Amino acid sequence: MIFRSLITIGLVILFASCGSEEEAASSTETGAKVEMSHGQKLFNDYCLQCHSLVANKVGPSLRGALERWDNDTSRIAAFIKNAKETIDSGDPRAVQVAEEWNNTLMTPMPHLTDEDIAALLEYMAK
Ligand code: HEC
Repeated sequence: MIFRSLITIGLVILFASCGSEEEAASSTETGAKVEMSHGQKLFNDYCLQCHSLVANKVGPSLRGALERWDNDTSRIAAFIKNAKETIDSGDPRAVQVAEEWNNTLMTPMPHLTDEDIAALLEYMAK
């Protein structure tokens, strides 16, 4: 019984946090502190399996990665959306990082919007 109510409480919290996501983005009032940022959520969902901010995993550590792209957000965004295409286009950092990682390819992420990429870059900059 206790277990079941714990699950219920957990679900309520989960739904409550989903519902308040939009408000949380535009205000810092109560409840926002227990939530992850949009960037962190995306990172956990799509990147964490291969990346960490602080250590190399399947791919390189990503804190400050933008600097390795001359702080050029459009180049790094293109790479995150489709690494292979960016490597094939001859982008110097894309070619270099692919060589460093023995051409282990990153999964294409065409579903990420420009806002998503901006949120990811903000998260990776911290
Ligand atoms: C299946 C594993 C995998 C996933 C998932 C993945 N990556 Fe990667 N990533 C790699 C590998 C391997 C490399 C290095 C070489 C390459 O892609 O050719 C890389 C390279 C990168 C680089 C270049 C880093 C540098 O030093 O220049 C960035 C930026 C990056 N990933 C961001 C992301 C983001 C953001 C996500 C999630 C949206 C993500 N990756 C998801 C495997 C992955």
